[in-house]
Amino acid sequence: MTATPMRQFALQGAAVILVLSIAWPYYGWSATALPWQQTSLLIGAVALFLASISRQPWWWRVIHAGFMPLVWATHQLAIDPGWFLLAAILVLLVFRGALSGQVPLYLSNRETVAALADLLADRGPCRFVDLGAGLGSTTVPLADHLPEHHFTGIENAPLTWLAGLLLSLGRNNITWRWDDLWATDLSRFDIVYAFLSPVPMPRLWEKVQKEMPPGSVFISNSFPVPGVTPDRVIKVPCTPARPLYCYQR
Ligand SMILES: C[S@@+](CC[C@H](N)C(=O)[O-])C[C@H]1O[C@@H](n2cnc3c(N)ncnc32)[C@H](O)[C@@H]1O
Repeated sequence: MTATPMRQFALQGAAVILVLSIAWPYYGWSATALPWQQTSLLIGAVALFLASISRQPWWWRVIHAGFMPLVWATHQLAIDPGWFLLAAILVLLVFRGALSGQVPLYLSNRETVAALADLLADRGPCRFVDLGAGLGSTTVPLADHLPEHHFTGIENAPLTWLAGLLLSLGRNNITWRWDDLWATDLSRFDIVYAFLSPVPMPRLWEKVQKEMPPGSVFISNSFPVPGVTPDRVIKVPCTPARPLYCYQR
């Protein structure tokens, strides 16, 4: 069974409904207050059971077991709900990609950027795009290092995009766009770079095959295209390992 966010939502919801549908009538009938601490622990145990029998990855099981007890513990702190709303909005502004496409924000490291710089320098002036460009961790240093090349960053999380825009200021070989990578026409680029997650790779490969012109190269950091042998794998000297899977079009 795959571990989509909707499925996790359904599992946690099922545990809540199951426990409350027994506990509420029981305590209502005996005219005593519902013990929320014990109830939240029981919901955690039921959610863990449901996640285990449906074979969810271990981290989801931990989240299911701890979620309701943590909600109860946080409630005891009596924090103004406005702070939670603010935190949720900020998280959404930065991690929009995690919610909509299971692609969170983490950044390419210096070693990866150096490997990309070597590859681009060998190729000569060309047009490079980073799909899901984050804060510009590739486009900004590459644009400084290779002024003859042109770099485009596509980012759809508003706050991340804004930070990347500010960090890109003053460089006329960067185009920084607030856009959806799926709406980006790849036919205009010589090098397409992506550092996403395993989830979008099959769909992205379809797009690459349809749109990228002959002679261009698709590079995926860390996540190979399932079932497709890369033409080249660049071993970047860093820990944890972050290979660059290169697919020639
Ligand atoms: C793992 S980060 C990589 C950041 C940057 N490319 C780097 O290498 O440092 C992936 C980024 O893709 C963005 N993202 C996810 N889905 C996207 C989409 N559909 N369109 C544009 N950006 C997206 C996320 O917001 C996140 O900033």
